[in-house]
Amino acid sequence: MSSPALFQPLRLDGLELENRIIVAPMCQYSARDGEATDWHMMHLGQLAMSGSGLLTLEATAVSPEARITHGDLGLWDDGTERALAKVLDAVRDYAPVPICIQIAHAGRKASSEAPWRGGQQVAPDSPHGWLTEAPSPLAHAEGEVAPRMLDREDMKRIRDGFAATARRAARLGIEAAEIHAAHGYLLHQFLSPLANRRSDEYGGSLENRMRFPLEVFDAVREAFPAGNPVWARVSATDWVEEGWEVEQTIAFTQALKARGAAAIHVSTGGVSPRQKIAIGPGYQVPFAERVRAATDLVTIAVGLITEPRQAEAILVEGKADAVSLARALLYDPRWPWHAAAELGARVRAPKQYWRSQPH
Ligand code: FNR
Repeated sequence: MSSPALFQPLRLDGLELENRIIVAPMCQYSARDGEATDWHMMHLGQLAMSGSGLLTLEATAVSPEARITHGDLGLWDDGTERALAKVLDAVRDYAPVPICIQIAHAGRKASSEAPWRGGQQVAPDSPHGWLTEAPSPLAHAEGEVAPRMLDREDMKRIRDGFAATARRAARLGIEAAEIHAAHGYLLHQFLSPLANRRSDEYGGSLENRMRFPLEVFDAVREAFPAGNPVWARVSATDWVEEGWEVEQTIAFTQALKARGAAAIHVSTGGVSPRQKIAIGPGYQVPFAERVRAATDLVTIAVGLITEPRQAEAILVEGKADAVSLARALLYDPRWPWHAAAELGARVRAPKQYWRSQPH
């Protein structure tokens, strides 16, 4: 039996993943002032033992106002760096797996309640709220306080914040960096005509809307060690007419590739409450397939990929180069072990679990 595609190694610049299963970024809203807690040790600890080829940290804020909620993980000062170091050192000691940080700014979707409290906007004058910042002074949803429009100085501060977070991540030994340009957060807000109504060189044409996200990419690429891969997560469509769509995503991906992106991670949606998403198994894979075909860049597919044979088919049929899983890995943190057993491969397990895998 030929060895399954899902368990072939994958090279991303100077980093080689043992297999093509990636733990998707998953916000936990369980940090204190941006600092990782024991929850992160438990959560990341179990996912590090999952047998996945890469473990992506949740959206990690570049500054306090970049957080979705006040419980978001951050990496913006020595305190947040120390807290994350403690978690990552322990995880690495026992379950070594390459780690990717997702670097994020929530823009106008910041200052929110955790989803289990309803996810609604927190007013700027509430104890855990603040005035949000975005490309244009347009609220995400009706009834919300509109964000403050970013000026050029603000944009430099944010770009430098992404780079500073990338430098701290490199110091922590984090091997890869994913820039969060999806799901309606700040960089997606610049890309999408639904959120960006600027009349300067950062709004209007596609070239102008891509300008700031590309500047952020360049700053992170420059700040992160050569050979350690950097890429972006994008929403390939807003699922709204007149919104950002796949042809523009392809143009953005080509620009990222020209600047040295090692991959593209293709998700969808999040910028508008008017989105109408056709959800079903692998519902975002056709977008990954189109982006991959048009750009020939290493492509990561995500979204309701839940079955080993489904994941294997996505790779064998050339629709993507790797799959990223979120909910399936929460449901079954040994998903890659089960996939390996089903497809006829093996994954690395902690030595303490030496008798655990079928052979
Ligand atoms: C997410 N998702 C997400 N996406 C992202 O880009 N950054 C993040 O921090 C988070 N946070 C997050 C938390 C939790 C608990 C879930 C379930 C999801 C989206 C996630 O990465 C993924 O794209 C979607 O969940 C779709 O994949 P699955 O769950 O169908 O495999």
